[in-house]
Amino acid sequence: MELKTRIKSTLAKALMQGRPELRILYMLARPKQDRSTRNVTAEYTTSWNAFARHLERSRTLDEWLFVEAMDGLPRYYNIDGAMRHQSFNSNAFYLETLSQAIGEHFPKARTITEYGSGLGRNLLFLKRRFPDLTCHGYELCAPGVEIARAAAKKFDLDVSYSRLDIVKGRPEEFVSPPSDIAFTMFALEQLPEANAVALRNILDRVSLGSIHLEPVVEKYPISYRGLLGRVYHHKIDYLRNFDANARAAGLREVLQRTLFTSHNAVVFPSLYVLKK
Ligand SMILES: C[S@@+](CC[C@H](N)C(=O)[O-])C[C@H]1O[C@@H](n2cnc3c(N)ncnc32)[C@H](O)[C@@H]1O
Repeated sequence: MELKTRIKSTLAKALMQGRPELRILYMLARPKQDRSTRNVTAEYTTSWNAFARHLERSRTLDEWLFVEAMDGLPRYYNIDGAMRHQSFNSNAFYLETLSQAIGEHFPKARTITEYGSGLGRNLLFLKRRFPDLTCHGYELCAPGVEIARAAAKKFDLDVSYSRLDIVKGRPEEFVSPPSDIAFTMFALEQLPEANAVALRNILDRVSLGSIHLEPVVEKYPISYRGLLGRVYHHKIDYLRNFDANARAAGLREVLQRTLFTSHNAVVFPSLYVLKK
């Protein structure tokens, strides 16, 4: 890696683990992030490639679902509404929240699709928890799809993955048959403008409904960290107008709950359950 890139990445890592106020001050001094498909692809191609060697080293599915060297770094988390500096398995919290929502709202679901499945770990967790569920993941970045396929093979779980841009994908690229339900986890966050199109594409391909764990800034609390979160969200160019978009989608029911535990001390994700 070139020295300049290495310094930048070390600085970014230090800031990611530093106090949220410091990160926001740093972000305020910089131009607003440009969340174009090109930039998102570049960002996640680098992120997911960095996980490849950890898949080789993971001896069990649990080791892969929580890679100590990547996921276990101490940083500022939001835990039950309090800011804590520690190591914390926030993914496990999200997956528990998702599993409960599936059981409570869609107990009859037999097929599920994740859109923006990244490394594909969420679906491996679900397949182990609900072995009868047929699972498919769509992901924008090729390394995510490749690593997800390799992990499914390594841990002998029948989950399929394919490459797709949820917004610009052509109909024939939605290769998996429509499913009972779908979900997104911090994937629509990457689509500040185009999330309404993505949501339409998702809802058009489910029979029962969908679940979304996403940072919906309109639903952040009115508190010191809630306000910092709004600044952070704006500068990082995340999801906009999701609540209004979901309510305009012609659904039978839209349920929303703000979560006070998250991987970032200034992010208060929402759980949305959308029923057709
Ligand atoms: C923060 S990661 C979350 C990954 C995964 N859902 C998880 O919980 O680990 C966001 C993912 O969304 C994917 N993504 C962003 N824009 C997308 C698009 N237009 N179509 C499909 N995937 C997209 C990114 O490539 C990335 O893998």
